[in-house]
Parts: sequence; C-alpha cells; structure tokens
Amino acid sequence: MDRVNAFCDAKTWDGPLPPPREVLEENVANIDGLLSLLTDKIDAALMDKASKLKVISNYAVGFDNIDIPAATKRGIIVGNTPGVLTETTADHAFALLMAAGRRIVEGDKEVRAGKWKTWGPMILLGQDIHGATLGIIGLGRIGSAVAQRAKGFGMKILYYDVIRQEKAEKELGIQYTDLDKLLSQSDFITIHTNLTKETHHLIGAKQFEIMKRTGILVNTSRGPIVDNMALFEALRNKKIAYAALDVTEPEPLPADHPLLTLDNVIVVPHIASASVASRTKMGLMAADNLIAGLKGEMPPNPVNPEVLKKG
Ligand code: DGY
Repeated sequence: MDRVNAFCDAKTWDGPLPPPREVLEENVANIDGLLSLLTDKIDAALMDKASKLKVISNYAVGFDNIDIPAATKRGIIVGNTPGVLTETTADHAFALLMAAGRRIVEGDKEVRAGKWKTWGPMILLGQDIHGATLGIIGLGRIGSAVAQRAKGFGMKILYYDVIRQEKAEKELGIQYTDLDKLLSQSDFITIHTNLTKETHHLIGAKQFEIMKRTGILVNTSRGPIVDNMALFEALRNKKIAYAALDVTEPEPLPADHPLLTLDNVIVVPHIASASVASRTKMGLMAADNLIAGLKGEMPPNPVNPEVLKKG
C-alpha cells in the first residue's frame, strides 16, 4: 500500500470482510484502477459502472473472480501474481497430503480431548507417503513444484493436464495418463488446475467411484472444481478414504456444513499461499501491476496483454 499510495490517491476498504457489492458499485464510478482480492467479484455489470477504469490488479494468481473477456472488451488490462506463491502453495499442498495420509489432525484432536490412553498397534493407522502413487491434476507451476516434492519422497508420479508436457515428463520422471486412469491408479490425488467452465465439478460422484477406496484427495486450487456434496457422500460411504481441502464451495464453508461432521476430512481456510514472504511478494507485484496499468503501460504480469498490444 505504501507503493500504491506514493503513486496515486487510493481509497482503501479496511473492513474485516470483503466490501459489500453496493459499496463496490458506489465506489468504482470514478476510479482509474482497482486492486482486488479473490473475494471480490468483478463482473461485466460492475465494469459498466466504472467508465474510467483502465486496470484491475488482482492480488492472487487465480483470476476466476474477474470476467476477463468483459475486461478485454472494455479495454481494461488485468494483472495477477503468478510465480511468487508457487513454492509456498506446493509446500502447503504437500503438508495437507501428509496430514491426511498420516492422520495428523485426528491425532491432535484425540490428544486434546484426553483420548490418548496408551500406545497401540492399531491406533490411527494411516497410509505411507513414500512409495505411494501421486496423481497430479494440472501440471502448471504449482503442480510441477508438488511433483518435485513428491520425487523426494520416492513417490511414483502420474499427471493429467489438457496439454501433455513431454519435457517436464523427462525432467521430473513423471508419467502422463488420462484422468480416469489417474483416478483409478493414484493413492493420493492433488488438484492444481484453474477454475473454468470446463473444470467446474471436474471431480464429482463418477470420479469418486473410479478412485481407490484408500484414495486421498487434496485440493488447494479452487473449491468448485470438486463437487462438495458428492465428496461428502464419497467420504461418508468410504468410497474414498480421506480429503484435505484448502479451498471449498462455498467459501467460507459454513461451520454446520455436512463435510465438517466427518473425521476423514481436513479443511483449512484458503491459506495455501499464506506465508509472510509470499504474501509480501504478492502485494508488491499487485502494486506494480496496478501502477503500470495506471500509467497506460503493460503490467509486469498481465492476464490479457492483448488489450495493450498495438496492431
Ligand atoms: C491465488 O493466488 O489464487 C490463491 O488462491 C491465493 O493466494
């Protein structure tokens, strides 16, 4: 914010929750730039109220909260924050994978509840991570960073992506499969794809039928990629063993959501990029994208660069 304030007159929303829609609508009329969070829905209707808007800088790598075609149509450049949160998010995905496999959260709850009475051969048995098969859905920056971690744990790694990446296959020693094969062969599955119309509910009842009964699902991408109610049924009926979610549909997940009645699920509040270092870098990047856009220049990380490309 220091960087932004040094460049322009900025009005900031300081509330603990996202600004209500009417506040956004009231305030966009006279602004040239908008620095948004992933909790702000920036759609065509909002852009129509913002006739001077030149740039939207999203403080996130994901930009499914913004209608990109609508922005492009109106000549609004959009920036995001790729790269700086890759390793932090991959760390977190791996932490969730291990916590689910080795039942860390359940163990902690038992200790706090005074249920630790003895050591026992059958208490809280989990699944080995080393030697297991990991399926990665979406081999972008974060998916690849997770593969690197999995290699260190001696996992066999499968991946599915719309684009096959033969160079990465050689570099990471990983194998391409179609989605069904990945689902049926993996012990752990981790999702790292963008949320689009095509990936909405990519993992639902049919996919849980295909997964191993011992299968563990990790999601640190976007909640709506998984059909949460189908996941609830699959976990409840032991069609799969466990899930660990950083993202949910909806967000926040209400405390009385059926998923939270189950022991075989871990849910954390969309914190995969939440390290001091990554969030600082994201902030600086978002400020730089905003300032460049206000100057009419190409932001360092544009989502729709065609807006400013000549010819
Ligand atoms: C993103 O950047 O898209 C994450 O979901 C939050 O850091």
